[in-house]
Amino acid sequence: MNIAVFASGTGSNFAAIASAVRRKQIPAKLALLVCDNPRAKVIGKARKAGVQVFLIERGAFAQRRDFELAIMARLKQAGIELVVLAGFMRILSPEFVRKFKNRIINIHPALLPAFKGSHGIKDAFDYGTKVTGVTVHFVDERMDHGPIILQEAVPVREKDTLEALEARIHRVEHSLYPRAIRLFVQGRLRIKGRKVFSAG
Ligand code: GRF
Repeated sequence: MNIAVFASGTGSNFAAIASAVRRKQIPAKLALLVCDNPRAKVIGKARKAGVQVFLIERGAFAQRRDFELAIMARLKQAGIELVVLAGFMRILSPEFVRKFKNRIINIHPALLPAFKGSHGIKDAFDYGTKVTGVTVHFVDERMDHGPIILQEAVPVREKDTLEALEARIHRVEHSLYPRAIRLFVQGRLRIKGRKVFSAG
C-alpha cells in the first residue's frame, strides 16, 4: 500500500511514521510527502528519509478547487491509497474527502470531541482540564469530527507548563499514529456509523 503524508510544519509525526515504515512496523510504502509550505522543516526530514516531496502552494492557484485537483492528480500518479494528515494546516473540501472516503486519517492533540481546532493542547491547558490526550480519526466533511480509530489520555500535572504538556502529547502522538496506520494498512479497521472496530 502506498501512503502519502500531508504536512505543513515541523514534521515530527512525519519522522515517527517514516521510522515506523523503515522498521516495518507499518508494512507499507511512504511514497509521498505533500507540503504546502516551502519553509516547513518537514521537507528536509522527507529528503533525508528518501521520500518524494510534492511541494504545492495554495497561492499558486486562484481557486481551492484547482489546488486540490492538482494534489489529487499527483496522488493518483503515485497510486496513493491512504492519506495521512500530520499537521496539514488546510481544511480539505468535501469533494476531496468524498473522493478519498474513509481513506484519510488525521491526528488531533486532544481528546475529541473536546478542544477541536488548531490549538487543542493550549485550549485544554488553559481550560484547566486534568486529563487531555491524543485522537486519531477518519476524516469526514466536518472538522475534527470523523469516526475515532484510537485515543490515548495524557494527564495534566499541577506543575505542568504548556511546553511540558506539549512535549508529552507529542511523545504519545509519535507512538499512537504509527499504531493506527498499521491497523489501517493491515485491513483491520471496520467503520460502522461513528464506531471503528479493529479486528484480529
Ligand atoms: C501535531 O500536534 C498534530 O497533532 C497536529 O499538528 C501537529 C503537527 O506536528 N495535527 P508535527 O509537524 O508532526 O511535529
